[in-house]
Amino acid sequence: MKLHVNLEQGYDIYFGHNLLEKIDEYIPSNVLNNKVMIISDENIPSSYRKKILDKIKYGYEYIIHPGEVSKTLQTYEKILKSLLEKQFSRTDTIIALGGGVVGDLAGFVASSYKRGCKFINIPTSTLSMVDSSIGGKVAVNLEHVKNVVGAFYQPLCVLIDFETLKSLPKRQYYNGLVEAMKMGLIMDKTLLSLFDDIDNNLEEIIYRSLDAKRKIVEEDEKETGLRKILNFGHTIGHGIESAYLGEIYHGEAVGFGMIPWIKDLELKNQVLNYLNKMNIKKPILNKTDQIYQAVLNDKKRQQNEITIIQLEAIEKYKMVNISINELYQKIKEME
Ligand SMILES: NC(=O)c1ccc[n+]([C@@H]2O[C@H](COP(=O)([O-])OP(=O)(O)OC[C@H]3O[C@@H](n4cnc5c(N)ncnc54)[C@H](O)[C@@H]3O)[C@@H](O)[C@H]2O)c1
Ligand SMILES: [Zn+2]
Repeated sequence: MKLHVNLEQGYDIYFGHNLLEKIDEYIPSNVLNNKVMIISDENIPSSYRKKILDKIKYGYEYIIHPGEVSKTLQTYEKILKSLLEKQFSRTDTIIALGGGVVGDLAGFVASSYKRGCKFINIPTSTLSMVDSSIGGKVAVNLEHVKNVVGAFYQPLCVLIDFETLKSLPKRQYYNGLVEAMKMGLIMDKTLLSLFDDIDNNLEEIIYRSLDAKRKIVEEDEKETGLRKILNFGHTIGHGIESAYLGEIYHGEAVGFGMIPWIKDLELKNQVLNYLNKMNIKKPILNKTDQIYQAVLNDKKRQQNEITIIQLEAIEKYKMVNISINELYQKIKEME
């Protein structure tokens, strides 16, 4: 199965089982016969890397500590030094094998090492499969500001091997699927209905979610307009995430961040029901002021107004300006 992303630097996303074993069928031979650095993290089973290294002539690996702590300029610099030491050239390749942290970091390394070398992304978390593997955004964090140093850089190809999800912790698995549910809500009602039976529909959920994001990215590659709708649920979501840093994951926060903006009551209940099925329980939100402050710090606001994405009904989104007082009330109502 494959999906083509039609951009100036277009690429294919391949889907399936055991793609890692057959990587030579997807990756051009000029990649396999030259130097390749696999960037991964300590939680990703080493057997995955081994399958790739088996097919590569000059393979290297760089393993980072898991999580946001590694999405820094320090780690970025260490990887660049390692590439230099190994005399990597522009025609050599970086493979990201991991979640969104590895993908964003490795992609940023690839975008800037010798002004850009080859990049292949192998996302291994649901979140990175449905969200960060498409769109070309690569970045690291600076101080406490996320993704503030980065680029738009497209990979040669993306490989989604569903087998890699077997080692992903269940909570991470559902966390990432909330982003797919978001895509269903704004763009594709069939995708949303697949959440009735997540485990049996998983592959189609991932495929349809990527296809929906593909359409948006193709229309607005550099996020000047339409792509902003992907932020549905993210305004309050980011606020919850930073007020409960480490306790509530990104997707979980976005899940509850969407709820106040779904007008249709039946649809709202359907989403709450899906969240419950994914074991995402409504957190006790007793930090209204902190969430509110985090939203205001995060968002560009025009005087006392803020723009949010509202959902009138399924596939019917709308950008609306609301006052910051109304925003406060919405957060308060969530307690
Ligand atoms: N570039 C984009 O467009 C974009 C979009 C969305 C999110 N992001 C970024 O993605 C990151 C979040 O992605 P994430 O949720 O994948 O985070 P992550 O990379 O931290 O992965 C989550 C956890 O799962 C583990 N893991 C991943 N795959 C595994 C596997 N197959 N087996 C066992 N453990 C596994 C990781 O080690 C980590 O502990 C954030 O930094 C965010 O900014 C980028
Ligand atoms: Zn998100």
